[in-house]
Amino acid sequence: MLKTRPPRLLFVARSCRWYATRPIHVDILGERHPTDEITNITPSILAKLPLRLHTRPKHPLHTLRTLIESHFPTFKHHSSLSPLVSPFKNFDELSFPKDHPGRAVTDSYYVNKDLMLRTHTSAHEVEVFRQGDDRWLLTADVYRRDEIDGSHYPVFHQMEGACIFPATPEGMRHVAEDNARMRSQLAKTNIVIEDVPHVAPTNPAQAGHDPAHSALVAEHLKLSLNGMLLALFGGATPLQVRWIEAYFPFTSPSFEVEVFYRGKWLEILGSGVVRQATLDTANVPDKIGWAFGLGLERIAMILYSIPDIRLFWSEDERFLSQFKENEITTFKPYSKYPSCFKDVSFWLPQGSALHDNDFCDLVRDVAGDIVEDVKKIDSFVHPKTNRASLCYRINYRSMDRSLSNEEANEMQAQVVSRLTELGVEIR
Ligand code: DAH
Repeated sequence: MLKTRPPRLLFVARSCRWYATRPIHVDILGERHPTDEITNITPSILAKLPLRLHTRPKHPLHTLRTLIESHFPTFKHHSSLSPLVSPFKNFDELSFPKDHPGRAVTDSYYVNKDLMLRTHTSAHEVEVFRQGDDRWLLTADVYRRDEIDGSHYPVFHQMEGACIFPATPEGMRHVAEDNARMRSQLAKTNIVIEDVPHVAPTNPAQAGHDPAHSALVAEHLKLSLNGMLLALFGGATPLQVRWIEAYFPFTSPSFEVEVFYRGKWLEILGSGVVRQATLDTANVPDKIGWAFGLGLERIAMILYSIPDIRLFWSEDERFLSQFKENEITTFKPYSKYPSCFKDVSFWLPQGSALHDNDFCDLVRDVAGDIVEDVKKIDSFVHPKTNRASLCYRINYRSMDRSLSNEEANEMQAQVVSRLTELGVEIR
């Protein structure tokens, strides 16, 4: 089948195959899985699967998770679901369109065409609702192929929360009472909420929902999360929170939430009224409710003043010993070691392309957390030969020690050799 594709795709597909000769299977968390032509999971990613940072006492991600959990005392907590899911579960079950960019091999990690690493905690919504949990939180590691810099890492942690109610007059009366209680509690606090009323045609209540029920549930969502944000970010000065219209395939209406913190608006989470199709699939068609998902690293970096996302993975005592159980403290940087830049320029085979994420994964596989960032500094197509030329600058810097120029050269040589295996011509 590959042979019938244009060369561009052929090259992209080849570049996703991370093994000079692809193994027939890969062992992941004690189980053996067959590979196929879309396998793009790399050894450096596989090594992260057992680490589960959100379960390590004192770790900032664990503390943040615990703080959020303590804000929802009546919710059930899940934190040990396997990161391996089917694309069906990650996307289709949540009403993602067939052509959604997140499905691309350049954006997600696939073990094979039927198995991938979850890209978000929402992948478990149906499963948890099906177990009969009406109020739950779920914390997990999620995986996305991305570029490399101080705030992007291919593995990060998300927390998903959801709350559903019987879609009956009595269920809705209960929601209204809860809303009144939360509203009067929030009125006593130092919070300023900007909430632009939603414009129905672009962000409507779902066709099968009574608009009044949908509005009550959306209000319950907003009040519940405003309380949580106040617990996390609140302080002496009034906390500014704003609710913004958004789109997610699995909620409607949908909202994003931003918090004004230390002079900037920060995007904190996505949320909305759960699509009824999700609840129908989960065998709870008579319920209506809300869900949200947030990234723990993003929030922890802000609250702890952690400057580089790689630090969460550090085993260095100078990092780990700074933190206390269930207490947010300001991170004290221990020292910044010198960085070492190396450039690599190459010609791609005629008419082919290379995705930045493919290049970044290759570098990550060679240099691991020593790579601080990768930038494409030049790209052009030769007018006569029609070949594309790319130049990337790799910044090597260890967070724990001084890196010698020889070590950086050695890693750079490995990057060059891996590129050559992919069929490029080094300039
Ligand atoms: N899963 C979304 C993401 O990773 C976040 C999200 C949005 C979760 C809306 C939700 C939700 O539960 O209702 O970007």
